[in-house]
Amino acid sequence: MSGQKTKAVYLKEYPAGMPADGDFVVKEMDVPSPGAGEMLCRTVWMSVDPYMRGRMRPDVKSYIPPFSLDAPLEGGAVSEVIESNIDGYATGDYVVDFTGGWKEYYLSKGERSQKVDPNLAPLSAYLGVLGMPGLTAWAGVTQILEPKEGETLFVSGAAGAVGSLVCQLGKIKGCRVIGSAGSKEKCDWLEKEAGVDVALNYKDYKNAGELTKALAAAAPKGVNCYFENVGGMHLEAALNCSALGGRMALCGMIAVYNNKEPEPGPSNLINMVGRGVMARGFIVSEYMDKAMEFAMEVAPLLAQGKIKFQESVYEGLDKAPEAFIGLFKGENMGKAVIRVGPDRL
Ligand SMILES: NC(=O)c1ccc[n+]([C@@H]2O[C@H](COP(=O)([O-])OP(=O)(O)OC[C@H]3O[C@@H](n4cnc5c(N)ncnc54)[C@H](OP(=O)(O)O)[C@@H]3O)[C@@H](O)[C@H]2O)c1
Repeated sequence: MSGQKTKAVYLKEYPAGMPADGDFVVKEMDVPSPGAGEMLCRTVWMSVDPYMRGRMRPDVKSYIPPFSLDAPLEGGAVSEVIESNIDGYATGDYVVDFTGGWKEYYLSKGERSQKVDPNLAPLSAYLGVLGMPGLTAWAGVTQILEPKEGETLFVSGAAGAVGSLVCQLGKIKGCRVIGSAGSKEKCDWLEKEAGVDVALNYKDYKNAGELTKALAAAAPKGVNCYFENVGGMHLEAALNCSALGGRMALCGMIAVYNNKEPEPGPSNLINMVGRGVMARGFIVSEYMDKAMEFAMEVAPLLAQGKIKFQESVYEGLDKAPEAFIGLFKGENMGKAVIRVGPDRL
């Protein structure tokens, strides 16, 4: 493919507060040639995920290094192998990896690539329900919360990539499930398609007190399990409504990712003491060794139609910044994915 041009997205500058289109720039370059021990991959689908915002803060120490301004951004992708100098990878194979996002072509050493079967599920599902967000949801539910039949599970960010699977796993395990999301359309989907018992549109509530009242009405026996995706008033309401021996899986707090200054913590942490609440934060990479167990449980449920998922599809690499910004404005239904190129050329 020598001489052929390709595109990749760079950060022009680190965003201050809410990311904006002008923080990103699309650059053109030559398609690279694979050397020994490398393969050339073509990105078919790429993912935008909230954790990427954390990589846009060079001043904050994190579990993952910040993005450089001098290299293309990276992220989860499903890609087609175009040319391979690596044993075990052949032209036409599909792989998932964590670097191929934000670019059309890239070189890979295959170290963190995993082959995927295009006949088992739509390729984009490997970035959502069968991918990193799916494993996150499954790990938080099965390894941390361990909900029991008849218990009440509250899920914030309930209509998103992670939250929507959490809700449905909770229903399969026999829980009363209450989900919170930011629009009527999302709440309708949660109740009518995902089977949650009560969906709360958090935008109807001005503060933690109002959300607490609505949650308490929906959870008359208290909240046994809370899956935290949002933070802020959701955490405060969950603490107010926690049952004795409540468990919390702290997965993310998207409501604070664009804050310029740290926000004061919830004022009602004392509830954890009297009610014996256990809270456990986690990062999905902790559970990579459970990926097969996750796939064996969730893939059949998906194939049987017992688990549903939604995607917001953006067309073309140029739309990636818009899709990413949309994560923080609630613009996506379910998993946000970008179709960078066709499944096959
Ligand atoms: N710990 C881990 O390893 C791990 C892995 C994956 C994801 N996560 C975390 O899990 C959470 C969900 O991730 P996801 O990939 O499933 O994203 P997502 O839910 O598909 O997309 C983000 C959603 O968050 C909601 N949101 C954005 N700003 C908000 C705000 N200020 N207040 C309330 N809701 C807001 C929006 O939905 P609404 O319309 O409902 O507002 C938006 O659609 C994030 O916190 C993410 O960082 C953690």
